[in-house]
Formats: sequence, structure tokens, C-alpha cells
Amino acid sequence: MEKYVVYGGNRLKGQVAVSGAKNSALAIIVAAALADEECLLKNVPSEVDVYTIAEILRDLGVKVEFHGNTMRVDGSCIRSYQAPYELVRKMRASFYTAGLLLARLGKAEVPLPGGCSLGSRPVDFHIKGFQALGADIHIEHGLMKAEATRLTGTKIYINRSSVGTTINLMIASSLAQGTTILENAAKEPEIVDLASFLNSMGAKIKGAGTNVIKIEGVKRLRGTEYSIIPDRIEAGTLMIAAAITGGDVVITDMVPEHVRSAVLNLQEAGVQIEESLSEIRVYAPERPRAVDVETAPYPGFPTDLQQPFVSLMSIAQGTSIIRENIFDRFRYVDELRRMGADIKVEHGTAIVRGVPKLTGAPVETTDLRAGAALVLASLAAEGVTEITGIEHIDRGYEALDKKLNSLGANIKRVQAD
Ligand code: UD1
Repeated sequence: MEKYVVYGGNRLKGQVAVSGAKNSALAIIVAAALADEECLLKNVPSEVDVYTIAEILRDLGVKVEFHGNTMRVDGSCIRSYQAPYELVRKMRASFYTAGLLLARLGKAEVPLPGGCSLGSRPVDFHIKGFQALGADIHIEHGLMKAEATRLTGTKIYINRSSVGTTINLMIASSLAQGTTILENAAKEPEIVDLASFLNSMGAKIKGAGTNVIKIEGVKRLRGTEYSIIPDRIEAGTLMIAAAITGGDVVITDMVPEHVRSAVLNLQEAGVQIEESLSEIRVYAPERPRAVDVETAPYPGFPTDLQQPFVSLMSIAQGTSIIRENIFDRFRYVDELRRMGADIKVEHGTAIVRGVPKLTGAPVETTDLRAGAALVLASLAAEGVTEITGIEHIDRGYEALDKKLNSLGANIKRVQAD
């Protein structure tokens, strides 16, 4: 186990590039195994969740090779319909293998993901969707056992905008017989990325990025070469890192349009932002102003940036109200309080009274985005912060410590006691 030792107080300055999007990569890597030929994926982030999904696919018989940020996925030899519990339980996105296996083998046995540090996270919408596509489903011994000779397209209304359900049903229905229409589909850029990827394999998908997606099933999908979009959550995290240190940072290799809501809220907080086609310059005042934020599905403010934004608001001038509408995601504020933040949580809402300074303390993270929030808080804090649980950060940020250090931060990765 390792931990970060962060010496706070440095103003970030310089230029940093954004890696490929984790949430796109997880969907696209699984979807690549729909083809019976090799797919070449580029801009794949080197992160633990990506290694885990690769391991799960290998266990199913798929050939996966990963060098640098390039991955080769060859689904021609997929043979097992049973996804391994020990790997699946590590990550909810591994449930995408259910859509893949149903489409490719007509049979899937995938462990149900349990709760996680974000509270209860059911997969009932995914299961209802598979049933609507004609799969026969039983839940036994913690497994979802599903069978369908060939899935059949139909109209599916997804109860609540759900990224994972939309992805799983797009994967499952690409090879279905007939046309599937997903209503109330999620509109996140990762969904559009998955649709572009599937279309480059020969799928017939229209409407991704709107709330109605039409998938005309095809008989087979072919190999392709594809580059994954930049990670908007990493871009947003780096923007907030610049803002929390009163820094001046240019973030490159990103899509400004994908972080519009973060840009608007940072501007409201008094942070200056200059945009070009694939870069953003963040120029921040010493202390931001308090801003009220509410998380929402895209294009709203992302729940994955809620925690980093709360860190920023903890040193703002004034009181901000941050409402979380997607997950139960406020447990980390106890750790921020240990650093001197003044935060009260009531009914899914954090009331953050800005303090002039945070102070370094030993803290622990229990999930990915909370980890990022604690790193950002530690950059602004006086003194030394030790962050344990950083394996959660490694799941979904590529070299966060190295990137921040290249901007002038002082983060050391050392063996935890
Ligand atoms: C994905 C992202 C995650 C992000 C989240 C919301 C990946 C790998 N993860 O998670 O980083 O925070 O979108 O943008 O892409 N729900 C149900 N039943 C279901 C499915 C979802 O009740 O079957 C609920 C969830 O509990 C949640 C809401 O719907 O309250 C949205 O969840 P969803 O969009 O599905 O999140 P994930 O795909 O798990």
C-alpha cells in the first residue's frame, strides 16, 4: 500500500495534457469484443480500472494486449459466458460484459455488482432492458443468469437517465435482430464516443447525444481503429486544481465543450477562463467566491466533479450550497473537516462555509473522486497532508501526482506504514 505526502501551498503554473476518458475506455474496450476481428484502440488511459476490465475480458477468452496508451482487443476467440466474481466485484462497469456476452454468445452469467462506497447502486434498469430485448433472466447465488438465442430489438424506456444502462443496452442491441429504440437515454459524451466507435465497427446507431438512440441491429461487427476522447472529469479536476491554488494553468488535449458547466461555475466563482479549440487556460484569484451547485446528468454539473468542487468551495469567500442528486456521495467531507473545512451535510446537500485556510492532516480516501478532492484540498492546505487509500485514485486518474508535480505541486508517493 502506498500513500501521498503532500506539501501544500504551491501555486500551480504551467501546461498539462489530459489523458483518454476512463468511462469511455471501459465501455469501448468491452464493445470491441463484439467484433470477431481485432480492434486497435488509442488514447487508452493507463489506469487500474482499465487493467481490471482487460483482465475480465481475458478470462472470457478475449485477447487483450496493452502497450503505452494503445490497446489491441481481439474478440474472435471469446468462449466463456461466465464473468469471474473476484474481478467483477472490483468495478461496476464490469457489468457491461453482460451485454457483450448476451450479444456474442446468447448466454451470460455475471455477478451482480454489490453496493459500493457511493451507497446502493442497483442494476435493475440494465436487467429490465435485457428482458425487453428478449433475454430470459434469473438471479441465483448472487449471479445474473441470462439467456437469449438472439436478442430482438424493441422500444425501451429507461426510467432514469443512466449512463451504465444506456451503454449496456447499446452493446447488447448492436447485434440484435431488428431495431432497438432507447428512450430517456443518457446524453454523456462517453455515450456519443461509444456510438462513434460502434459505428466504425459497422453498427448502425443514430441519435447518441440526444435522449432517443436508435440502434439497427447488424449481423456482425468488424475490427476497427479508434481513438478515445479526452477525459472531461480529469480536465475538470485539473481546472479545479488550478483554481484552488490561485494558479495559472493551461490544460491541453481536452474538449472545452465537455466541461461547459464546470467552466460556467468556475467563472461565477471569479476564476478567469480562456478557451480555444482543445485547450483551456485557468487563471485564478487567491480565493474564489462561493457558488451554489447542483449535480445533474450531462450537460449538467457532473457528480464526478462534486467532491473536487466542494474542496474548492471550502476555501471560498462566503457560503455555498452543493446539492448532490445522483449518488450518496458526501462521506469524504469528514476528512475535509479534519483539514479545517466547515461543512454540514443535510439531506443530500452540503452547506460549505468557506474558511481562509485549510491545514494539512492525515486523511483517508475511500473512493476515486473523493481521493481527487482530498489531493486538491491538500494542495491548498498549510503544512503537510498524508493521504492514504490512494489505490482508489489510481483506479481512474492517470499519474495524477506526476501531472500536478509538473505544475509545481509537491506530492510524494511513499510506502504507507
Ligand atoms: C456512470 C459513471 C460514473 C458517474 C455516473 C453518473 C462509468 C463507469 N461510471 O456510473 O463515473 O458518476 O455514471 O454520471 O461510466 N440507477 C438505478 N438502477 C440502475 C442503474 C442506475 O437506480 O439499474 C441509478 C443510480 O443508482 C444513480 C442513477 O441511476 O442514482 C444514475 O446512475 P448511472 O448513470 O447508471 O451511473 P453509472 O453508469 O453506474
